[in-house]
Amino acid sequence: MGCCHHPAVGEGCDGAFTVDTSRITFGRGCLAEVGDRARALGMTRVALFSDARVARLPHFEKVRQSLLAAGLDVAVYTDVHVEPTDQSFLDAARFASELRPDGYVSLGGGSVIDTCKAANLYATHPADFLAYVNAPVGEGRPVPGPLKPHLACPTTSGTGSEVTGITIFDLLSLSAKTGIASPALRPTEALIDPDCTTTLPGEVVAASGLDVLSHALESYTARPYVRRPAPARPSLRPMSQGANPWSDLGCREALRLMGLYLERGVKDAGDAEAREQLMWAATLAGIAFGNAGVHAPHGMAYAVAGRVRDFRPSGGYPDDEALVPHGMAVIVNAPAVFRYTATANPERHLEAAGYLGADLRGAGPGDAGEVLAGRLVEVMRAVGMPNGLGGVGYTDADVAALTEGAFPQQRLLQNAPREMTRPVLTDLFRQALRYW
Ligand SMILES: NC(=O)c1ccc[n+]([C@@H]2O[C@H](COP(=O)([O-])OP(=O)(O)OC[C@H]3O[C@@H](n4cnc5c(N)ncnc54)[C@H](O)[C@@H]3O)[C@@H](O)[C@H]2O)c1
Repeated sequence: MGCCHHPAVGEGCDGAFTVDTSRITFGRGCLAEVGDRARALGMTRVALFSDARVARLPHFEKVRQSLLAAGLDVAVYTDVHVEPTDQSFLDAARFASELRPDGYVSLGGGSVIDTCKAANLYATHPADFLAYVNAPVGEGRPVPGPLKPHLACPTTSGTGSEVTGITIFDLLSLSAKTGIASPALRPTEALIDPDCTTTLPGEVVAASGLDVLSHALESYTARPYVRRPAPARPSLRPMSQGANPWSDLGCREALRLMGLYLERGVKDAGDAEAREQLMWAATLAGIAFGNAGVHAPHGMAYAVAGRVRDFRPSGGYPDDEALVPHGMAVIVNAPAVFRYTATANPERHLEAAGYLGADLRGAGPGDAGEVLAGRLVEVMRAVGMPNGLGGVGYTDADVAALTEGAFPQQRLLQNAPREMTRPVLTDLFRQALRYW
């Protein structure tokens, strides 16, 4: 029997779902707990990861001092590349392999937390770089055992990387993003302090917030877990197990909070209530997608970010190279995707639009895709997102290459509620070129 509005278990499909997350501490000021918590985890020699910008903020000194006050040795790595690459992961792994710390602390956004996960992985279980990378791009080899303890402290209200077993990077030779997914990568603990977001530029709140919004929407509309073939052994149940009653809870609340607070949090750095609620939404959506999985907007984003030519975002991001911030690369695909996927489950698409604040009066199942896409476009415009793929420098001539970049992201595409063939992806990229 299905439960909580999920359909009955399909023939040969999985009848159960698993919930995993890092241990979480959430609240203003909790960053100061880091030293005591690191010591309680048995750390003595800590590698502290950050990026150059975050390392200049007061949060960084707070963490360093807390670790020192707990009597720990601290070695600092602040060369994390924003939107990391295989090259920048390897540099970080080299640092960790030489240092041989017995614990890791990361302070930063998804770029920092993901780099720290990779450094911990390759220093603890050395292997060729592509060994652990998701197939078909890499070998998809299972991580052979636990990693060293990792305390992750997010400074963006974004990725949820502090609670997921995923790390994402740009594979330069392929001009596409891909990742490593293993429960072993999930940080041991997350210290989530909304005060860290007081220094975030509005542009970063917007892009990372739309990543969160899409985590919630994609997990809420993902193929339900009862429609995924049962794993050969229960221990092989994937992290991307599909929408389930637990992920649904987090998604609904994250969408509601996004509808209420995203615009406020972007436009007013002093709006402490909005910024705190956005951090909470990021946490909820992170746990949700870490157990349900995202689908097409993220799969397509890996091509959008990887093939960037000359787009440079304003404010808050490094200005010495072209890049499409992750959340922006995701959201430019989202209205086109949800217009297409709505027929798979119109009720859920309509509900999601309602949580985001759309006016549902008079709307029926046949309007679901249009209503949700319309609300997404409203939110994008309100927080200054570019007008679709055209707004980040792509034209119709790029659609074939974007399709080729996205199609290998099968781990994500198979989690979508409708089939994502090459022709479908081509059509979606075309629809995503311009929205207004
Ligand atoms: N592992 C996962 O589960 C997962 C999920 C989604 C995205 N990601 C990855 O995470 C990365 C994006 O991470 P992100 O959106 O958190 O941003 P980010 O880490 O790339 O940081 C964006 C910018 O904000 C700055 N910044 C960060 N915190 C700040 C603060 N408190 N005050 C001022 N400036 C600050 C950074 O220095 C940087 O310039 C991408 O590589 C993406 O692919 C990972």
